[in-house]
Amino acid sequence: MRVDIISIFPEYFAPLDVSLMGKARERGILDIHLHQLRDWTHDVHKTVDDTPYGGGPGMVMKPEIWGAAVDAVIGEGRAVSGEDTLPRMIVPTPSGRPFTQEVALEYAKEPWLLFAPARYEGIDSRVVAEYGARLRADEVSIGDYVLAGGEAAVLVMVEAVGRLLPGVLGNARSVADDSFAPGAMANLLEGPVYTKPPVWRGHEVPEVLLSGHHGRIARWRRDEALRRTLERRPELAARLDRESFDKHDRRV
Ligand code: ADE
Repeated sequence: MRVDIISIFPEYFAPLDVSLMGKARERGILDIHLHQLRDWTHDVHKTVDDTPYGGGPGMVMKPEIWGAAVDAVIGEGRAVSGEDTLPRMIVPTPSGRPFTQEVALEYAKEPWLLFAPARYEGIDSRVVAEYGARLRADEVSIGDYVLAGGEAAVLVMVEAVGRLLPGVLGNARSVADDSFAPGAMANLLEGPVYTKPPVWRGHEVPEVLLSGHHGRIARWRRDEALRRTLERRPELAARLDRESFDKHDRRV
């Protein structure tokens, strides 16, 4: 997968050299290209923002600079990948649609993602209007809180998508077992996990996990996932398909 990121802080993405994402890049599974937005300015101050129309606090990022940058990056990518390929454009903003595991799975199928993280009060809205008409452009939020800029949101999304790419995780089953993964455990949080020793500071590993009885272990894991979801995320629990519950589930 090719990933382009245009930002006034390309150095913010150094963590993508580390750990799983670093390995995915070394192996050529993730091909990340960082771009400095200010390279497309023409004034001595390399200005990327201006005051908002209609007044109000803060500054808005200028459409001409983003337009020039995105056009150039698309041109560069197409020169490599072919003239008929276009990226999916992702603009992080707290006013976007929620980024979920479902969205991560959808992005993981794309050959090319282009992230446009903003600073200040955001990017002039005509930029998403322009590219939304030419390619697929999504405004996406990673949660109901406000970050200082979209860069941290891009790190979150690249990691969530990157770990889903074939060959990135050693064990494909760990993706299937994720909290929020579709399937039998859809909309369930993962339950508690344990490793050796069997007793640590007086805390015991639940006996069932030591039993070697796969049926009982699977049952226990589902019970714990249900219990945890009901307690911590009642709104997720409300979306569970109760028709598919068995008697045991109903007791939890
Ligand atoms: N930029 C600032 N806050 C954000 C959020 N919660 N999600 C995505 N981008 C953001």
